[in-house]
Amino acid sequence: MEKKIFIKTFGCQMNEYDSNRIFDTVKKIGLLKTSNQSDADCYLINTCHIRDKAKEKVYHEVGRVKKIFRNKKKPLFIVAGCVAQAENEEMLKREPYIDIVVGPQSYHQINSLILNYKKDRKELTEFETKDKFDYLDKIKNTSSKVSSFLTIQEGCDKFCSFCVVPYTRGPEYSRSFEKIILEAQDLVKSGAKEIVLLGQNVNAYLFRGKTKEYRLSDLIKELEKFNEIKRIRYTTSHPRDMTDDLIECYSNSKKLQPFVHLPIQSGSNKILKLMNRGHKVEKYFDIYEKLKKINSKIEFSSDFIIGHPGESEDDFKDTLEFLNKIKFINSYSFVFSPRPGTPASKLNSIENEVAKERLTKVQKILFQYQLEHNESFIGKKIDVLVENKMKKNQMYFGRNEYLNGVIFDGNEKYIGKIVKVKIDKVNQNNLFGIIETNSDMRAA
Ligand code: SAM
Ligand code: SF4
Ligand code: F3S
Repeated sequence: MEKKIFIKTFGCQMNEYDSNRIFDTVKKIGLLKTSNQSDADCYLINTCHIRDKAKEKVYHEVGRVKKIFRNKKKPLFIVAGCVAQAENEEMLKREPYIDIVVGPQSYHQINSLILNYKKDRKELTEFETKDKFDYLDKIKNTSSKVSSFLTIQEGCDKFCSFCVVPYTRGPEYSRSFEKIILEAQDLVKSGAKEIVLLGQNVNAYLFRGKTKEYRLSDLIKELEKFNEIKRIRYTTSHPRDMTDDLIECYSNSKKLQPFVHLPIQSGSNKILKLMNRGHKVEKYFDIYEKLKKINSKIEFSSDFIIGHPGESEDDFKDTLEFLNKIKFINSYSFVFSPRPGTPASKLNSIENEVAKERLTKVQKILFQYQLEHNESFIGKKIDVLVENKMKKNQMYFGRNEYLNGVIFDGNEKYIGKIVKVKIDKVNQNNLFGIIETNSDMRAA
């Protein structure tokens, strides 16, 4: 009988990419993907360690799975991802239900871990990033999404005071330029029309080939040549690595979308220094101005951490001032969460109530700008790349160039195509409209 694997993914886009690649890998030993968790012979959670209670969430999930399988054969239980890396063998000691713990740079070895688990309940958390990609380069990426993720870089050498990523993903590593392009070809063959290049510091991408060094801008230029690819995006970038060659791409590329996700974390230079971000507010603003000068349609989104140790009322006001200057169209904002082992976790925290109040103020402003931006589309006909039919209401889902979700009446034949949709209604997150039936459908 066929054996099935269910994967539950937490965290960032990189974990989503990894989960897809785990599916591609375990297929080799006959494990097939199921979306029905109670059907699973193997239950894998791909975990995230970025904010509070990450570890507790894993044990909570174990409890849930135990209940689902109370009267059935226990599935092989695997913990992968960033919590697996941070907690490693501790997890096996604490919870006998967990069979395998595998870190984000070791999952290319998952098949042998699965095949040998009866002999060996095992933990594997080495940083073998090169070996992992050497392995993954040999197996086809079978993701068949209209918008597909493609990891080009992993890890981080920047060590921001608050962040666990350098400890969970290891040092920065850039994949081979040629192998990335081959993987893009596979994605295109299975229907991708948009490629989202991924990395923890995606614009730190630097691959030293035999005769040339390749940067993110070179990848964008190469992907631009594929007729089938209609849109190119990248995430997450760091202000320190926003080099002129990348900025130049916004002048020349027709496919790079006019939407830049560029986290700043705080609008106060004092806090940026305490965070060890390695850039000032002025640097961010300089990038903003350069890009706006190239194309005034370019919009920004960001990440903010509110209540980092040392954040005074004046520092917080600087963040508010900054928000009002840039008018981000979409952003993520969180209260600082002390992470074990990071330098900021050893500093005196500011009062939780104060941090929460500040977060509320920040989000009010961010949400207001987001809504205003969405409202600016009412009555307009916009380009939408159609991704899928929605399960609930027979409507179709796609995205505009700013990543806004667009929900509209449609037709199966438009999936994977760019169509014109006339927007008649919006809310905080989505735009709603009607497809122009004689719209100039541009994508193949
Ligand atoms: N590399 C990206 C950068 O430098 O901007 C960020 C990657 S991180 C996975 C995503 C976001 O999580 C960060 O931008 C930050 O806002 C948030 N984050 C990270 N550590 C955090 C912490 N200890 N508390 C709250 N938010 C945190
Ligand atoms: Fe974390 Fe900073 Fe690295 Fe981003 S640059 S992953 S926030 S340490
Ligand atoms: Fe989370 Fe690891 Fe991504 S900590 S945000 S899954 S890099």
